[in-house]
Amino acid sequence: MCNPPRLAEVRIVAPISIIIPTYREAQNIPFVIERIRALREARDLDLELIFVDDQSNDGSVEAVAAAGLDWVRIIVRDGPRGLSLAVVEGFRAARNEVLVCMDGDLSHPPETIPDLILMLDNGHDLAIGSRYVRGGSTDDDWGFFRWLNSQMATLLARPLTRVSDPMSGFFAVRKSDFDQARDLNPIGYKIALEIIVKCDLENIGEVPIHFVDRARGESKLTFKEQLRYIQHVRRLYLYRFANAMYLLQFLVVGASGMVVNLATLSALQFIGMADWVALMGGIGVSVISNFLLNRRFTFSYARRRNPWTQFRGFLVASLVGILVNYVVAIQLSRLDWFQGPFGLQFAAMTGIACGLVFNFLGNRFAVFRR
Ligand code: GDD
Repeated sequence: MCNPPRLAEVRIVAPISIIIPTYREAQNIPFVIERIRALREARDLDLELIFVDDQSNDGSVEAVAAAGLDWVRIIVRDGPRGLSLAVVEGFRAARNEVLVCMDGDLSHPPETIPDLILMLDNGHDLAIGSRYVRGGSTDDDWGFFRWLNSQMATLLARPLTRVSDPMSGFFAVRKSDFDQARDLNPIGYKIALEIIVKCDLENIGEVPIHFVDRARGESKLTFKEQLRYIQHVRRLYLYRFANAMYLLQFLVVGASGMVVNLATLSALQFIGMADWVALMGGIGVSVISNFLLNRRFTFSYARRRNPWTQFRGFLVASLVGILVNYVVAIQLSRLDWFQGPFGLQFAAMTGIACGLVFNFLGNRFAVFRR
């Protein structure tokens, strides 16, 4: 009986396109090409290598030309700069069925590419190079805050995918799957997460990698990019769990309305207004702030519609909510079940919940309909 071939000996036959987004990586490009050239020869791979550059104007184009290899090219993009946008453009321009994405600073080991591809061959939809599976690691000088940052970002993505390292920019996917993506709209850095969610990929394979700190040049991951990640995750949550997210945002706005109400009421009381004026002022200002926040934030897709019509609808939905609240509470309070201690309070709480659901549904599907 013969032993099965070791991974390092398995022949990869599928033609591969490696896409590398670059911004000011001219000094790294010759080293990247050299590592990939060595891998290509060692494993006899059929591959093309595409750098997708955002007008770095730092000699990147010349560095690729200097290599003089017909399987290596560079695309210089127009339009807004962005890592994910560059990867999408590269994937669209790729000629082969197997697509690989990696960084242009050799943080990701190119030698692991065959393992990613074997994962696809074994039936996985996407294969990702992970720092957090057994055998994966990062350089020692990753400080506590960088580690914490990465863990928190991973935790935020947990409801979207169970992958241990969805932040990784090193992955392989089939072009036919990528082309299925509905509504690709990436912002920031996390293109793997975007593809996993928008292509509905579930069977994700993970290959351990050692993530090396870059030897040359500097990271472009600014604080602004990290804020964009939160925006990106919010968009993906909305895509995956649309109505639950709208409800959650509606509740957050409702809670903020209570704060606005109390603050206004207290301010009016402080300047000597009568109690009824303070109460009415609190209600009025909180209704307006709730409307504006829901229009701008919760149901932002509808913010180009006529605000006056929406405001009228919002008031009607609120009144219907109050009516439902009252009717439910009063009916329940008459039942035997609600005759004990705090019976009225329980009836009122149920009324509030029902009124809120009606209010939400009215806003989501009528006032701020798509
Ligand atoms: N075209 C283009 N446009 N490329 C960009 C841009 C851009 O706006 N911004 C960054 N890049 C390129 C870089 O030149 C590099 O090749 C790659 O994208 C990664 O950027 P870095 O700035 O080096 O990222 P990093 O090392 O901080 O982040 C890495 O770690 C993350 C996980 O912690 C990357 O590997 C990420 O992919 C990974 O998610």
